[in-house]
Amino acid sequence: MTGLYLSADTPETELLSIYNGVRKHLGIADVTEFDPAGVQTLTSGRGNVRFRPLVMYTNRESLAVNESAVKMIDMRSDTVSLPTNEMRNAMASALVGDDVFGEDPTTNELQERFAKLFNKEAAIFVPSGSMANLISVMAHCSQRGSEAIVGDLSHIFLYEQGSSAHIAGVQLNTIANKPDGTFCLEQFKRKIRGDDCHEPITALAVIENTHNMCGGKVIPLTFLDEFTKICRQNSIKCHMDGARLFAEQKAPI
Ligand SMILES: Cc1ncc(COP(=O)(O)O)c(C=O)c1O
Repeated sequence: MTGLYLSADTPETELLSIYNGVRKHLGIADVTEFDPAGVQTLTSGRGNVRFRPLVMYTNRESLAVNESAVKMIDMRSDTVSLPTNEMRNAMASALVGDDVFGEDPTTNELQERFAKLFNKEAAIFVPSGSMANLISVMAHCSQRGSEAIVGDLSHIFLYEQGSSAHIAGVQLNTIANKPDGTFCLEQFKRKIRGDDCHEPITALAVIENTHNMCGGKVIPLTFLDEFTKICRQNSIKCHMDGARLFAEQKAPI
């Protein structure tokens, strides 16, 4: 028997497809039913955490007989995963040096590898996705009175403590995200400010790929092409929050 801890926000409509996906992945062939139990509470280091348990079992009777036999897989978030021994060993034995003097061979190699991978002049290693977003907002919105257009379900808007406002002094203007993580491009065009001196300056537009709150959806290339075209036509910078880009990476990098 196998069970999953899912995020309490997981919509009912997604339970069945998650269940089927995990079942296939684990090669559980004989499961006939699943129990989309309601949201429960678990005590964690940060207090009570709401989660949705999803238990797969071959029949209700066997679950009733031995509940402790259920192997629970914690899928509340990818952040609950822990490094493997191989990852710990790689960190412990990595060549290091002074990064300020450009003498950290591992950081240099990582940056070079990513610049090449994304066909960019350079890359910089930062320790967190929130920091990468804030740096990008500050780099692209250097003029006071700047505004950035972001999805209303974006990480940068919902989960970064309003840092664009309180650290960068940049106003975020939200646009409704569609369930696939994109937004209406006509609406986007209408959000771009004109040259009225009373208004803020639209300096930046942000997309998130893959989209965290839209179920990890990959943003279609056709949308990206159209979006970047509009940004270029209006002299707006675009930033892609790719904190979860490699979640969808299939080939080795
Ligand atoms: C899309 C997205 N952007 C940014 C972040 C922030 O990353 P970090 O937790 O490394 O600051 C996350 C984290 O989940 C994310 O999903």
